[in-house]
Amino acid sequence: MSLPRVTVTRQLPPAVEDRLRNLFDVTFNPEDEPLPRARMEAAFDNADGVLTTITETVDRDLLTRPSRKARIVANFGVGVNNIDLEAAKEAGVIVSNTPDVLTDATADLAIALMLAATRRMYETEKALREGRWGGFRATQWLGMGLQGKTIGIIGFGRIGQATARRAHLAFGMKVIYFNRSEPADLDFPAERRDSMEAVMAEADVVSLHIPGGGANRGAISAERIALMKPTAYLVNTARGDIVDEPALIAALRERRIAGAGLDVFAEEPKVPAELVSLENVTLLPHIGSATLETRTAMGMLAVDNLEAFFAGRPLPSRVA
Ligand code: DGY
Repeated sequence: MSLPRVTVTRQLPPAVEDRLRNLFDVTFNPEDEPLPRARMEAAFDNADGVLTTITETVDRDLLTRPSRKARIVANFGVGVNNIDLEAAKEAGVIVSNTPDVLTDATADLAIALMLAATRRMYETEKALREGRWGGFRATQWLGMGLQGKTIGIIGFGRIGQATARRAHLAFGMKVIYFNRSEPADLDFPAERRDSMEAVMAEADVVSLHIPGGGANRGAISAERIALMKPTAYLVNTARGDIVDEPALIAALRERRIAGAGLDVFAEEPKVPAELVSLENVTLLPHIGSATLETRTAMGMLAVDNLEAFFAGRPLPSRVA
């Protein structure tokens, strides 16, 4: 019996590629360049399944092409805002993602960005590297301490809760959050607020954990940013498009908020020049899940989904 054909759109950790090789008739992308549209179309026309990463747009045209053969899109990533889920459903294409396995790595990075922002790490390291450090001064480069401060979590799912747990247990922060539902079985204290506005106005650090796209696009609007305290910080490890980037840039430039730590941007890999020029923001290139352990686990979960699909079993993490 011939093996199912699978196209993998980007390079994956070696252990994941080895497993794929053993299970399927696989086409890899050894150059690891973004696939041009024609190669994406060929992938959907020739393979039984496509393993995508979060940077590939899987739109209605791709999913509804009469020549499409692929019946499953296994996304390497928990976010699926790169995939038109409605069109996938209509076309009968199954979609899976990789939740849970990246929760800790992403929460760790949110905490790293909170520390970087509140302790002015980018600004001070830059001064040192540029030879502008004149020695210890008691009043220079003072940041904000975290003990007793309030972290406001927007989106209290797995990653939001993991970030909050760290902030409370490691730094003694009070946790408030905005989420449609109330989570069960929390092992640390957290207070729900009934609006995003309430969280943004009260928190000393606002950390974003809602999915991108759809109704969340631009959710962190100029009006909501204006509610933040001038001493507060914004951390984003979720998706860039949930923030009105020009509004955030203006607030940082005019010091209407104290600073920010960003791992995601509206039009990755483009980062606005003005954001790059600001010293009160730490910028990282979407590395929330970038540990070998986590990226391997994400790949393995994507393969688990493909394996289950082709064996006719329920998928471990199906989203559509
Ligand atoms: C995801 O999985 O959605 C992340 O953004 C990638 O780390």
